[in-house]
Amino acid sequence: MAETVNIALPKGRLGEKVYEMFASAGYRCPELENPGRKLTFENREAGVRYFWVKPSDVAIYVEKGVADIGVAGKDILLEYRPDVYELLDVGLGKCRMCVAAPKSFKDDYRKTLRVATKFTSTAKEHYAKTGREIEIIKLNGSIELAPILGLSDVIVDIVETGATLKQNDLTVVDTLFDISARLIANKAGYRFKSEKINEIKKNLETVKENRK
Ligand code: PRP
Repeated sequence: MAETVNIALPKGRLGEKVYEMFASAGYRCPELENPGRKLTFENREAGVRYFWVKPSDVAIYVEKGVADIGVAGKDILLEYRPDVYELLDVGLGKCRMCVAAPKSFKDDYRKTLRVATKFTSTAKEHYAKTGREIEIIKLNGSIELAPILGLSDVIVDIVETGATLKQNDLTVVDTLFDISARLIANKAGYRFKSEKINEIKKNLETVKENRK
């Protein structure tokens, strides 16, 4: 029987769409479609074993090699810079990394700018380019609350539809880069299982093209 490829999928909304893409590409896993609390699923015939992992952890699983491939957002790849191959833009999870602030915000260069974010490296890198002095306030979620409550002046965060900003009276000040989900591979795993991984990549590409 063909070798099994271990695949880390990002748990949640994006992961469901990503799994649908793998299923359409020929790698359905019936067990995963009714998961309960289980986190690993295998389809031996199709040669795939899936893991549901926290989206921000996909790159770690792949870099360490416990997953041969995975799907991670470009935001995570730019923030953590894992040592992995990026094989394909799967075209899902499209959004942007932005600086946002209350509508009344005016930058006062005499003061240190307080930046709330989950993406501390991304934020530091952005402000280093302009030489702006900042203080990072690391949060793990609900970032939009920080400027509303006066914890920060601005936020660096993901904007998808813009609804969260709008409903919290915030506005985009700057767009840093576009984001989408990428198929990534462990470097050694890719060497040992190149045939199967390239087959998966090719089939995902076909699904992506057919969706256009
Ligand atoms: C993300 C992001 C924004 C929101 C943007 O949060 O941090 O809060 O989605 O989406 P929108 O532009 O479509 O409103 P997520 O749902 O991942 O939750 P979080 O608060 O844990 O970051």
